[in-house]
Formats: sequence, structure tokens, C-alpha cells
Amino acid sequence: MHACSFLRNKGMKKILVTGASGFLGWNLCNAIKKDFQVFGTVFSHSVRNEGVNIVQVDLTDFTMVQELIKDIRPEGVIHTAAATRPNYCQEHPEETYKINVDAVASLAGLCADRRIPFVFTSTDLVFNGLNAPYSETDPVSPVNVYGEQKVMAEELVMSIYPEAALCRMPLMYGLSSPSYETFFQAMIKKVKSGRTVQLFVDEYRTPVSGKTAALGLMLALEKGRGILHLGGQERISRYDLGRVMTSCLGYGEELLIACHQKDIVMSAPRAQDLSLNSEEAFALGYAPPPIKTEIEELLINMQ
Ligand SMILES: NC(=O)c1ccc[n+]([C@@H]2O[C@H](COP(=O)([O-])OP(=O)(O)OC[C@H]3O[C@@H](n4cnc5c(N)ncnc54)[C@H](OP(=O)(O)O)[C@@H]3O)[C@@H](O)[C@H]2O)c1
Repeated sequence: MHACSFLRNKGMKKILVTGASGFLGWNLCNAIKKDFQVFGTVFSHSVRNEGVNIVQVDLTDFTMVQELIKDIRPEGVIHTAAATRPNYCQEHPEETYKINVDAVASLAGLCADRRIPFVFTSTDLVFNGLNAPYSETDPVSPVNVYGEQKVMAEELVMSIYPEAALCRMPLMYGLSSPSYETFFQAMIKKVKSGRTVQLFVDEYRTPVSGKTAALGLMLALEKGRGILHLGGQERISRYDLGRVMTSCLGYGEELLIACHQKDIVMSAPRAQDLSLNSEEAFALGYAPPPIKTEIEELLINMQ
């Protein structure tokens, strides 16, 4: 699966990636910058990424977004910018609504007007975790504000621009961007320095690396329309994900502390099993490698 399969006669097509300072946006820019002319938006973190044209913009400001699309004239837009911390969204619903819902509608509308292929990144948290694995046709049932905002954004995109792709992303791991440390890299740091890591044994996901997710998003830009699940091939608990990581690092499991969701009090309610059925994406050519293979490759790149 190659990012460069997007519209065969690609030349150096212009792709706009929102959230280029964030985890997924950073990984996406890195995955496609050799094959495309990439423009990446940042907001509060000014990052440098060689080969990517970085633009500072507040996506909640409609005039700025309008100018951005007018100036760049992108041939594809992948929207990864968002307020992504469920606890923060729970505590600041009005503030986060602006970026998680209003900004999505603005971008979708501007892309619809110009027929620019548009990909929106949603989440497995649109489900309540009681009926996994979830496929694209299952009814949504969010249990927290973040999930509710993503559902509202999905509905708006579907009504404003039915040709857009709505990708529900799973839990993702991988190399951090310069501004956001991933749970995965933080976990590696802790284990390497001999500190313990608490992990849920009763929370299941179908994770993929940021690099694999980026390839899935490019596939969606090319072939997608409507909802597409971009989960991995394996259902795994957070604790077992930690076990794979420590074993790849050559450590034992003694630094991993098993805990349950109820042991940790958080503002946003958590769902237990958000595994995604991603057969539709697999049939399109999305091919997440085994978790162990992805982690081994990541650890080599981190050295
Ligand atoms: N990470 C996961 O495991 C996961 C799982 C499921 C779904 N998702 C979804 O995948 C997408 C990417 O997530 P992520 O983890 O990569 O996010 P992230 O690391 O938290 O990065 C968020 C990005 O959004 C930008 N942003 C926030 N407010 C903005 C505003 N007002 N104007 C412009 N940009 C703004 C940030 O820019 P600055 O930092 O420059 O302010 C940053 O680049 C999101 O849609 C998220 O909901 C993520």
C-alpha cells in the first residue's frame, strides 16, 4: 500500500493536512511529503517539517479558513486537527465544540463548494463499547462529550458534502510529533527508566501505527466516500499492548501494573471495547501489519 497511489497522474498534487503539529498530522505529512506538495496547518505549536509548507491558522476562524483554501487551492484536504483529549472536552464542551464541530462544518462546506476531495478524521469513541466489533453501519452511541462532538461533526459532513470520506480512527501509537508526546512514547520512556506503567486490562481497541493510519487516510482520499473504519487487524487490551511493547524492547513485564477502568477516576466516561471491524477498508487495500511488526519497526526508527 503506497501513499502515492492517490490519483495516478499525481504530478505534485497539493494536499492540505490540518493539524500538522499533532500526532496524526505529523505522521501523515511525513508519509506523503515525497509524493505530494504538502501544506500543513498548525495553531498553537509552530513546528518545522522539512518538505512541508507550514501555515499558522486558527481553524475556528471562518475567514482564516476561507483565505487558506483560496490561497492554497488544495486538490485534497485531510482534516486531522481537533481537540482530542476526552477529559478536556468533557470539562470544556463549548470551547471544544468550535474546533470539533464548527470548524469541521466550515472546512467541509468550503471543500464541497469547490469539489475538493475531503477526509474527516472521526473516532472509535462514537460507540459505547458494549457491542464490539463495530462496523460502519452500526448505530452510534457515544458515552462522552468528545464522542458526541465527533458524531455531530460526522452528521454535518454527511449532510454538507456526501462525497466526503469520514474515517473512524482507532487508538494510534507511534512516533510523537515535536509538540505532542504519544502515550506509546511516554510508556517506552518510563519502562526504559525503570518506572512502572499502569494499563487497563479491561479496555480493548484495534490499534494501528500513525504511519499505517496515514496510508489509510490517503486510500480514503482516493477511494472513500461515506464512513470508513481504519482499525487494525488485532483486538487487544491496553495491558497486552504494553506487553508487546516491553517484549519488543527486551524487558520483562514486571514494570506493567494491571488495572481496571474503575480504578482510575476521570472526567470523561470510558467505553470498554471499541474494537472496529475494518473489513471494508481491508477490501479497498488497507493492510495494517501485525502490531508486533509495527512496534519492532518503530523501535528501530526511535534509536
Ligand atoms: N490519537 C489517537 O489515538 C486518535 C484516536 C482516534 C481518533 N483520533 C482523531 O484523529 C485526529 C488526530 O488526532 P491526534 O491525536 O493526531 O491529535 P493531536 O495530536 O491532539 O493534535 C491536534 C491537532 O489539532 C490542532 N488544533 C487544535 N485546535 C486547533 C485550532 N483551533 N485551529 C487549528 N488547529 C487546531 C493542533 O494544533 P496546535 O498543536 O498547533 O495547536 C494539533 O495539530 C483527530 O481528529 C482525533 O479526534 C485520534
